[in-house]
Amino acid sequence: MALYSDKVMDHFQHPRNVGKLPDADGVGEVGNAKCGDIMRMYIQVDPETQVITDVKFNTFGCGSAIATSSMATEMVKGKTIEEALKLTNKAVMEALDGLPPVKVHCSVLAEQAIKAALSDYYTRIGVDPLPIVG
Ligand code: FES
Repeated sequence: MALYSDKVMDHFQHPRNVGKLPDADGVGEVGNAKCGDIMRMYIQVDPETQVITDVKFNTFGCGSAIATSSMATEMVKGKTIEEALKLTNKAVMEALDGLPPVKVHCSVLAEQAIKAALSDYYTRIGVDPLPIVG
């Protein structure tokens, strides 16, 4: 069996939503001290509906970090903040048809990066960000 699923390879080779949002409503950056990989997520939020209208990422990291960033952005785009807060690394991994055990932490980073961007959004609109960063 191949180490990486077709979906992981697809999102690694053709990542969705790569880039920056200069007028982002929330920016989150997280890193893993062991591997040194870094992810930064940008979100644009409709203040009326609380829907994430756009999301972009920049990831300096391994193939799985890029694939999970890409999938995570696809999974929260068009969702409300409340729905996006429910995103888990497990859901990202399932959507990618799995990751090797040694790469599970890459999906954790993707979940944390989305939540860090959501947390930043909450801080900017004056809501206590602490409950959402776990
Ligand atoms: Fe650390 Fe992939 S090896 S994020």
